[in-house]
Amino acid sequence: ISWFSAQRSPEEEPIPAQDGWWQKTLRALKTLLLFSIILGVSLLLWGYVFQGCGPSPCKTPVCQDLLDLYLASGNSSVAPCTDFFSFACGNTNRIGSPFQALAEENKRRVRRILETPGSWHLAPGEEKAFGFYNSCMNTGAIEAAGAGPLRQVIEELGGWPISGNRTPLDFNQTLSLLMSQYGHFPFFRAYLQPLPTPPYLPVIQIDQPEFDVLLKQKQEPNYAQILREYLTYLNRLVTLLGGDPSQVQEHASFSIFINSQLNQILRPGEQQRAQGKVFEMVTIDQLQRVAPAIDWLSCLQATFAPMSLSPSYRVAVHDLEYLKNMSQLLEKELLKHRDFLQSHMIFGLVRTLSPALDSQFQEARRLLSQKVGELTGRPPMPVHPRWMMCVEKTEAFFEPTLATLFIRETFRPSTQSAVREGSSSADVARLLSLHVPSQLTQLQVKMGPSEWALKPDPARQDYEDVQLGPSFLQTFLSCIRSRQARVIQGFLQPFSNHRWQVPPWGLKAYYSIPDHVMVFPAGLLQPPFFHPGYPRAVNFGAAGSIMARELLHIFNQILLPGGCPACDTHALQKALLCLERLYSAFPSPKGTSLDASSTLLGDAADTGALAIALKAYKKRLVLFRGETILPSLDLSPRQLFFRSYAQVMCRDPSTQDPQDIHSPPTLRVHGPLSDSPAFTRHFRCPEGALLNPSSRCQLW
Ligand SMILES: *[C@@H]1O[C@H](CO)[C@@H](O)[C@H](O)[C@H]1NC(C)=O
Ligand SMILES: *[C@@H]1O[C@H](CO)[C@@H](O)[C@H](O)[C@H]1NC(C)=O
Ligand SMILES: *[C@@H]1O[C@H](CO)[C@@H](O)[C@H](O)[C@H]1NC(C)=O
Repeated sequence: ISWFSAQRSPEEEPIPAQDGWWQKTLRALKTLLLFSIILGVSLLLWGYVFQGCGPSPCKTPVCQDLLDLYLASGNSSVAPCTDFFSFACGNTNRIGSPFQALAEENKRRVRRILETPGSWHLAPGEEKAFGFYNSCMNTGAIEAAGAGPLRQVIEELGGWPISGNRTPLDFNQTLSLLMSQYGHFPFFRAYLQPLPTPPYLPVIQIDQPEFDVLLKQKQEPNYAQILREYLTYLNRLVTLLGGDPSQVQEHASFSIFINSQLNQILRPGEQQRAQGKVFEMVTIDQLQRVAPAIDWLSCLQATFAPMSLSPSYRVAVHDLEYLKNMSQLLEKELLKHRDFLQSHMIFGLVRTLSPALDSQFQEARRLLSQKVGELTGRPPMPVHPRWMMCVEKTEAFFEPTLATLFIRETFRPSTQSAVREGSSSADVARLLSLHVPSQLTQLQVKMGPSEWALKPDPARQDYEDVQLGPSFLQTFLSCIRSRQARVIQGFLQPFSNHRWQVPPWGLKAYYSIPDHVMVFPAGLLQPPFFHPGYPRAVNFGAAGSIMARELLHIFNQILLPGGCPACDTHALQKALLCLERLYSAFPSPKGTSLDASSTLLGDAADTGALAIALKAYKKRLVLFRGETILPSLDLSPRQLFFRSYAQVMCRDPSTQDPQDIHSPPTLRVHGPLSDSPAFTRHFRCPEGALLNPSSRCQLW
């Protein structure tokens, strides 16, 4: 494979030969990745002409902004060869992680779109989206309406014994209404999603419900206090709804009881996966026999109309035993405590609808989250300004329309045409004539906006079913129903064209199993990771390494134990052991006890991502001259490449989540850099410096 032999210096020789299939695959992967990255980053640069030669300082406003960020985040008085993390990210606890910052910036972009209309004539669908956002921001009207709209909803559901009028409905009727009209699933969740196995048909999946507070851990030291806080919260809700305080205690206690009973019979997800049972297919008829308390056919039919269901329709159930025990619990309680169950369902509904309720409800939830956070040591839910919540809801309810507007704002026409041209021909496989498992060569890489965002389909975007008013809660409910209908319609259409399942403002790369397509959304390809006007060192170091890492994750999934029974993973295991040794040379950050093996795959992806992005960058420099640098940063293009790689990883190490499958950020910078001989060379690291170890792994 000539791509590599051309410029491989002796010190860049990979780990000694392991003949056979695995090595061929590894090499094929390298080439494939290299192509993907070069293709990816170049496509985005297409249409921008580079002139001159030798690195000249980039003085445009976008570069100035980037320079300001780099200066603010790093500490240039630290020696790069001993602590590159502090060199690049020393001040991150003041500026935050770049991903979080970009996610917020993308929300601000959408906000600017929603708050400054008028330069063009609004299409009917756009009018609805703007109207929704405006009524969400109209807190005056929401406060004036108070709890009235919510009380009306409760009456539609048959009322409850604590306040207001009652016309009790049958339990099954209430449940069916909650699921189909109010988007609330008190005892289990039901949603439409393709199966993860061929032929990837969309089916109804039945999963565990979501809870306000996880009340399972009786061994939790502050369990009693958590219960008390939850009780206080439920009391507040009832007071806000004008309920009878003398009855609250009993209803709230029962809701807590049901909540903890349901939590007790849940099987944790990890346990399910360990038993190799992520879901099982059962017919609605079988489900009815296992869990008879619920009228499954009519509840699911109401929720997923216009799909037509029959008793022989097969659903994917994630935890059948949970449903069985849940049904037993319900049958027992329905006999004695139908009223209490009604209150329990209403408490849950209030949580689902809370974004549409007035500030007193929001405050009650915030207090609960804060108190529970204090008691459990888990971080409370973050408090966001109102505009952000309204942007998120508008994005969720009017995604097709906002996607088009977002692309119009953030992707200039020249980039658009380049990306469009590129994405149809981005079939990397055709560039290769290699004998590797077809799974790998057929992977397509797509970037930027999806086809449907570039060519909007008016039929998808008119939202005729959305009714604005009379109250914001009614608007919100109408949007919930409209979105559900759109999701179902989308799945009912023949599953021919690949539909990108990431919104363009998202940051998460998305891998579609059925289509074998990797998608990098437009929202990710933004400053500070990517800009057509940046020095290419920045685009390859930041966006390039992000893309390489995501692709490596996919290959890991395919190649690792179980994913590829025919593969010889011996060499891979050996390489991983080497990485484990390399990483163990670094002191583990204080307060963390690292389980190195759990982060090993992530470490391998980080190390590979840096190596591949660097090779792609070098290749690019050979093909095109005219690299720029950032003024007054005093870094050569190659140095800037490593600096940009590290910038992506910047975050406050003390915020590391113990559940994180990645190494802490210091290691994610130091591990890969110490494995790169080019890093040592370009920063002239002396023998024995922490980032210049005596032996390396160089898996990629
Ligand atoms: C930058 O690093 C130096 C040397 O480690 C240290 O003394 C100084 O406090 C750091 N500056 C900031 C702002 O953290
Ligand atoms: C479900 O109920 C059965 C018997 O009714 C019991 O044996 C089993 O342990 C319960 N499952 C869970 C997860 O609690
Ligand atoms: C709900 O419907 C199912 C199936 O028809 C039935 O077995 C169950 O008793 C009903 N529940 C109530 C409380 O009526």
